[in-house]
Amino acid sequence: MSRPSVMPTHKEVAFSKDDVIVSKTDLKGKIVYANDVFLSIAGYGEREVNGEPHNLIRHPDMPRTIFDLLWGELKAGREIFAYVKNMTKAGDHYWVLAHVTPSRDERGSIVGYHSNRRVPERSAIGKVEALYRDIRRAEQSAPGPREALTAGRAVLDQALAAAGKPYDAFVFSL
Ligand SMILES: Cc1cc2nc3c(=O)[nH]c(=O)nc-3n(C[C@H](O)[C@H](O)[C@H](O)COP(=O)(O)O)c2cc1C
Repeated sequence: MSRPSVMPTHKEVAFSKDDVIVSKTDLKGKIVYANDVFLSIAGYGEREVNGEPHNLIRHPDMPRTIFDLLWGELKAGREIFAYVKNMTKAGDHYWVLAHVTPSRDERGSIVGYHSNRRVPERSAIGKVEALYRDIRRAEQSAPGPREALTAGRAVLDQALAAAGKPYDAFVFSL
């Protein structure tokens, strides 16, 4: 369930360099585990998040293109690093550098997903904000949802081409 009634406050909440925000989801992205750091930063109780889709903490500034990329990598069985702007229950926001991985059973089948997040470098956030703003703008000027992803992806690909780096190396160069 997303929360259209909560408006972003544009207030950033900080968390410590030592904090690791952890959550696990099922195959559909429903939260099955959130650690205490997650709950305290996002402002939710355990019962409020368990079983909820992970877009519970989605911030409206996040480009759809980034989540499309994330899900594409996860479903292909690969890990991904991504900068994500998340929204707390109160509408405040916090930036994370997320490492998201598939979780596998003993036979190697993907049974869910796992994300560990840390506080990003301040300098990286400025660059990511600018890039995500450009991606969102391209998404919003597209005529439909599918075209929005194509347009957003084109902006991301241009940034990667300009940097001369593949996605992962680009993320770590910011
Ligand atoms: C393990 C895992 C962690 C995720 N963490 C976040 C997160 O921190 N913030 C977020 O907005 N989406 C996160 N997502 C992506 C959401 O599932 C969803 O794709 C995204 O919020 C966009 O939702 P929407 O397309 O319904 O708007 C995560 C997904 C997985 C599988």
